Amino acid sequence: MSMIKHKLIFVAGARPNFMKVAPLLEELRHYGSFESVFVHTGQHYDSKLSACFFQDLNLPEPDYFLGVGSGSHAQQTAEIMKRFEPVLTAERPDCVIVVGDVNSTMAAAVVASKLQIPVVHVEAGLRSFDRSMPEEINRIITDAVSDILLVTEESGRQNLLREGVSADRIHLVGNLMIDSLHRSLDAAQQSNIMRRLGAAPRSFGLVTLHRPANVDHSEQLNEILDAIIEISQSLPLFFPVHPRTQAQLAGYPRMSDRVVLLDPLGYVDFLCLMSNSAVVLTDSGGVQEETTALRIPCITLRNNTERPITIEQGTNILAGTHKSTILAAWHEIQEHPKSGRIPDFWDGTTASRCAAVLQKFFTLRSTLSQTPERSGKSASESAAVLAI
Ligand code: UD1
Ligand code: UDP
Repeated sequence: MSMIKHKLIFVAGARPNFMKVAPLLEELRHYGSFESVFVHTGQHYDSKLSACFFQDLNLPEPDYFLGVGSGSHAQQTAEIMKRFEPVLTAERPDCVIVVGDVNSTMAAAVVASKLQIPVVHVEAGLRSFDRSMPEEINRIITDAVSDILLVTEESGRQNLLREGVSADRIHLVGNLMIDSLHRSLDAAQQSNIMRRLGAAPRSFGLVTLHRPANVDHSEQLNEILDAIIEISQSLPLFFPVHPRTQAQLAGYPRMSDRVVLLDPLGYVDFLCLMSNSAVVLTDSGGVQEETTALRIPCITLRNNTERPITIEQGTNILAGTHKSTILAAWHEIQEHPKSGRIPDFWDGTTASRCAAVLQKFFTLRSTLSQTPERSGKSASESAAVLAI
């Protein structure tokens, strides 16, 4: 008797998505009951923000490449929606899996939801409570239309409950990005990037910056760069520059040769540098989590974070975005370094917990569809009774 296969469409589009889809795609290959289709929206398209991760993360070639490219939020979101809808009508999947908080996440979730295809959101429930951040809008919309909400930390569950999401649809599974980190640590130790840069362990810091609020206006960017230059006088810094930041940096008049500017790095090389650094200064969401998992001190160049567990339990501190507050944070971590603890379920086995939730969802759906009086249940109703 042939087994029924459930067709899942995975959507990724931007750099931080690849680390989140890779472990789950790999995990599901071991199950006979799932068929995965991988869609790359093309939100990120430069090799250093996209193609270079495929080898590092052992990702399969995408089944669909939508090639949407850059644009305003409305243009990019609309283009993803227009190009994703025909994929769904052709493939007729049993569910769509979206990850994180980028425009591709939100656009794909809305399209699937309107076609009444169940949506699974990986990294649901995170909230910065700052709606000037485009990702916050994406998180709220994606969660509102998702049927299964997979959360990385308890704050995610609490935020969703407060927004009225039924507890049965929320699953604390842990952090898929940390699965990727575990799988790549050996490769990171083999990387020759330290030798290429002439760097010794713990003798340098690492910087990443790409949030629009920090880099789009030179006044704000210069404030942060002034702090970075001052810190570099005591600790040399490596700074792989995101393309959004690249153009703005050219106008900065005081760059120091103790801040080494690099192109964006591949995942394994970046992980090698991060795990050997004395401190990381960043506005990245994923890097706040990875430093907590690696127990490397992290200074977050923002006024808030949607990942409070990295502060409550991890090595992260919020530094704000003024030169004086960043320097105060720098002195604080030298006087009182946080060793932190690794949050529950950030243990490298999140993919298997996600797979178990998916299996339960489909088992329940097929039971419901075979029970005459309940066969009219919608996807979200099935998700809501997952815990039964
Ligand atoms: C996007 C996500 C952000 C995520 C970040 C990860 C949204 C709203 N933002 O921000 O949440 O943290 O990715 O890196 O989804 N560009 C290139 N090459 C590329 C892609 C972009 O040069 O391959 C340049 C273009 O000038 C583009 C700009 O970067 O206009 C911004 O790209 P975009 O995808 O709109 O946003 P990110 O800042 O990358
Ligand atoms: N990263 C990378 N190379 C770099 C900078 C970051 O591989 O030069 C990785 C990092 O380890 C993490 C992910 O990219 O896994 C985070 O992506 P990003 O900071 O672009 O997005 P965010 O997490 O802020 O949405």
